[in-house]
Amino acid sequence: MPQNPIGAPKSSLDTPILCIDMDRMESNIRFMADFCKQHNVQWRPHSKCHKTPIIAQLEVAAGAIGVTCPKVSEAEAMALGGIRDILIANMIVGERKWERVAALRRIADPIIACDHFAQVEPLAAICHKRGVNVRVIIEVDIGLNRVGACPGKSTLELAQAITKLKGVTFAGIMGYEGHLLRIEDPADKAKQIQDAMSILSHTKRSLGEVGIPCPIVSAGGTGSFQITGKCEGITELQAGGGIFMDPFYRNSCNVKDMQYALTVLATVVSRPMLDRAVLDCGRKTMNPDTHLPLVVGHEDATVKRMSAEHCELTLGPKSQDLKIGDKIELVVGYGDFTTVLHDEFYTFRGTTLESVLPIAGRGKLQ
Ligand SMILES: Cc1ncc(COP(=O)(O)O)c(C=O)c1O
Repeated sequence: MPQNPIGAPKSSLDTPILCIDMDRMESNIRFMADFCKQHNVQWRPHSKCHKTPIIAQLEVAAGAIGVTCPKVSEAEAMALGGIRDILIANMIVGERKWERVAALRRIADPIIACDHFAQVEPLAAICHKRGVNVRVIIEVDIGLNRVGACPGKSTLELAQAITKLKGVTFAGIMGYEGHLLRIEDPADKAKQIQDAMSILSHTKRSLGEVGIPCPIVSAGGTGSFQITGKCEGITELQAGGGIFMDPFYRNSCNVKDMQYALTVLATVVSRPMLDRAVLDCGRKTMNPDTHLPLVVGHEDATVKRMSAEHCELTLGPKSQDLKIGDKIELVVGYGDFTTVLHDEFYTFRGTTLESVLPIAGRGKLQ
């Protein structure tokens, strides 16, 4: 049975649980929203990490125009939670999914990304048949080499073909600079991101020259938004994970601002050696692959190894007084692959449990 003693102190709760420090998360949300306002760019935060409509509502209250989702089913969860302007920044393929997009249009105003006519033509036909109109943007490959139409002629021709369809409206372009987040030298990182974004601004100009308006130019992640948001022509930022500010962003992407807000509360279940403690939170609680978790409040304790249900810590002299039964908190190394392991967030104001939030988008993989 889930525990839900609202008002209880954190230290009294059973473990492991996934915790949000609400003051820190709200401060991070304000930071990202304020950055966007200052730089005259809209904020459309990616919801793929928090997957929780109530958190999306907090983002919208702070100034976000809506959210970015990776999947139709997550977009449905967001729409059911009251979010209207939803970019599905992914390729949507298959009749059932196109039908779901047309149905989603009844309760929200989605935008669908594409990089080929084969994804758009059938979607347009279904939307037209169902009497709805859905916005479509083209993802342009700006160097990530994942999906995306080639910049230049291919993108222009695709946009021209889309404008002729009934059932969809061409609304703009997007690109994701995910390959540039970890560049160490700040000047080099800024230069390479500016070069990538110039592909998008050039594409927008070329579209304008052939008479196709391009109101949306969407890009940016947490590891890059402070550079991307200042680039010419970018109209909105998709940066989302920064509301939790994982160590991955801090250490691997060199993002200095915002505060760690996502942790796992665990219990010491074994003390096999003076310098080794074992916690009840393994890989089924926290994914360490992108970045290892950090131990809170024990400066010389580090995560050594994680297996399915165990997390082994190496303890320096200052943390060797840890005992079996002690509670300990770890900052999640990278939230994206961790939140999907949990049914709910335990949210705290200071050390007091404020709410238990269902992660409504969990398991929404379609
Ligand atoms: C399309 C797209 N936009 C933006 C992001 C950035 O997300 P975040 O800010 O959560 O790192 C990603 C990350 O994978 C992405 O795939």
